[in-house]
Amino acid sequence: MVENPTRDEAKRDVKNSLLLPTQENDLQIVNCPGSSHDCEELLKVLVQRYASLIKVPPDKPEESVEAAVRALWSCAVGVPSSSVGAMSLPLSPLTEAQLDQLMALLERRASGVPLCYITGRQQFMGLELRSTDAAFIPRKETEVMVKAACSLLVGEILPRNSKPRVLDLGTGTGNLSCYVARQFPECTIIATDISPAAAQLAEENIKRLGCEEKVKVLVGDLFAPFQAGDEQNSFDLILCNPPYISTTKLQQIDPEISEHEPKLAIDAGPFGLAVLGRLMRDAPLYTRPGGWLAFELGVGQGPGTMKRLSKDARYQRVNGFMDDDKNVRAIAAQISDNKPGVQ
Ligand SMILES: C[S@@+](CC[C@H](N)C(=O)[O-])C[C@H]1O[C@@H](n2cnc3c(N)ncnc32)[C@H](O)[C@@H]1O
Repeated sequence: MVENPTRDEAKRDVKNSLLLPTQENDLQIVNCPGSSHDCEELLKVLVQRYASLIKVPPDKPEESVEAAVRALWSCAVGVPSSSVGAMSLPLSPLTEAQLDQLMALLERRASGVPLCYITGRQQFMGLELRSTDAAFIPRKETEVMVKAACSLLVGEILPRNSKPRVLDLGTGTGNLSCYVARQFPECTIIATDISPAAAQLAEENIKRLGCEEKVKVLVGDLFAPFQAGDEQNSFDLILCNPPYISTTKLQQIDPEISEHEPKLAIDAGPFGLAVLGRLMRDAPLYTRPGGWLAFELGVGQGPGTMKRLSKDARYQRVNGFMDDDKNVRAIAAQISDNKPGVQ
């Protein structure tokens, strides 16, 4: 076998290593139905052959080569699963047609198509979501903001209001709404997205995860679906993971992201603040007294954004939340009790 195979060589090697002579001097597939030991052998061969061809995305550390192979294997046998979910599923023996299917899926992954756009599944904080190229792929880094929001709900919001209203702006797959709805059934949640396709996917996930009683989905540009100052349209918590990559930076990021994920979800204009700026400007018009805005932002955007919010009289108590590398990746700011109008 070649050390660093091309995709064609890897495919040929795997196929060859699966073909063993039988007594009749014929060929058979090692991974015959019913033999779990052979499944493990096949897994080893596949992981080895695709180790240099399938990349582990830095922003999705859970997608080891083994996890990717397992997820695609699951897909090939008709049990779509995320990389995280597939790690705890047993390997079902493959028919020859399923093996061919698996090789085709590995080929797609090796060509740079995001894993979850192939499997149709992505896990976020324990939730197995349907994921398609209609929406941004939920990522582990967003846990910083979600954990900050959960501690606000427990420590600040629920003690003041036992039935809080939460707004999830730019919901994508609906991951944040579903997580909050399941953790805090006392919340009523509105999820919005400017993309009708993303909103439709969010609806699907909300139903799949049994959250339809708690979460309503609307389509629109940021706060456009709401009337400012109307109690019915005011929230105790506004959550948002907006696009925050500048158009220039977008040209330098991994093509796996820029060529596959929706531009609407990642492109944030010349300075990376097109949505973030409007979010900070308008959020105070849509919050209840003592309400909070919590949002994610990019590496390096934290200090400037915290300074900007601290100087804005409509906000008080501005807190930054860091990731493991000590980058501020989420900010939560309380809206001042006597907020003046739009700035
Ligand atoms: C980075 S993704 C976040 C998706 C999901 N909330 C998450 O955290 O994984 C940003 C989302 O905001 C949506 N979006 C972008 N601009 C918007 C706008 N002006 N109004 C509403 N949604 C917007 C995009 O369509 C996309 O679904």
